[in-house]
Amino acid sequence: MSARLAPRASPLRAFARSTGLLGVYFRLSEMRRALSSARPPAVADDGKPLPGRLAMMRIGGTADWKFFYERGQATASTLVEAARSAGADPASWRRVLDWGCGCGRIARHMPTHTPATIIGRDIDAYTVKWCTENLDGDFRVSSLAPPLDLPDASIDFVYGFSVLTHLSAPMQAAWFAELGRILKPGALAALTFHDRQHPAMAWVEFRSDQDGVSLTEKTLEGSNLVAAFQDIETIERAAAPWFTLIGNMPYDMTAFEQSLAVLQRNQD
Ligand SMILES: C[S@@+](CC[C@H](N)C(=O)[O-])C[C@H]1O[C@@H](n2cnc3c(N)ncnc32)[C@H](O)[C@@H]1O
Repeated sequence: MSARLAPRASPLRAFARSTGLLGVYFRLSEMRRALSSARPPAVADDGKPLPGRLAMMRIGGTADWKFFYERGQATASTLVEAARSAGADPASWRRVLDWGCGCGRIARHMPTHTPATIIGRDIDAYTVKWCTENLDGDFRVSSLAPPLDLPDASIDFVYGFSVLTHLSAPMQAAWFAELGRILKPGALAALTFHDRQHPAMAWVEFRSDQDGVSLTEKTLEGSNLVAAFQDIETIERAAAPWFTLIGNMPYDMTAFEQSLAVLQRNQD
């Protein structure tokens, strides 16, 4: 089970929700959990700095730096292999977008797979600042809703790890259009999501459901407070104007506790 999806029902959380303070409660609880975790070493095996505990907590719900490093490395490989299996050649990529890059957990490993410039965009200024100061690439803050500051048809590959998992159906639909705009025709998007086969379905409580996407909370969309669950069909349907679904790796076949959709940008 991912730490982010661990059950956290508590009277205090319920009180925070009922008083409209759930977002504040959530951010404070992230800080408390980060500060009670072991400090990471300054540098990881790849010779690059590791982010601080709060940055890791904000993207993964845990400040376990070994998990951050090793899972990030394995996930980068899985995403690139999925693209390669779908016919892409990572050696030919010039510009790769890490949509929802967080503190570079995956982006830091991408140079071992492709010579492309890594472009990271994320709504979280705290984690993006760490990337700009510590990693090679073009990292900037973006908004919860499109557009991105990138030209049409300028990206060879986009991956979004655990970003759809925090967005409502209308927001997802807006992002399929935007990713379709910035990708080159025929290019791939690898996007992870929580499908309804996920074991957490046995105990999560939902507070909204729209167009087949169920959300655990309505506050702080885009953060780990909100978890979205859906079937692959909802992605295929919402992405259809721009993309064709060409791969679906279910939850129990990935090594990262989420399902993976591989979409190909339609030819114009
Ligand atoms: C669970 S974290 C994963 C971070 C990173 N992809 C990784 O795997 O380490 C989800 C990330 O998506 C970002 N995010 C959420 N909604 C976003 C949006 N609309 N545009 C860009 N980033 C977004 C969050 O700020 C957060 O950094």
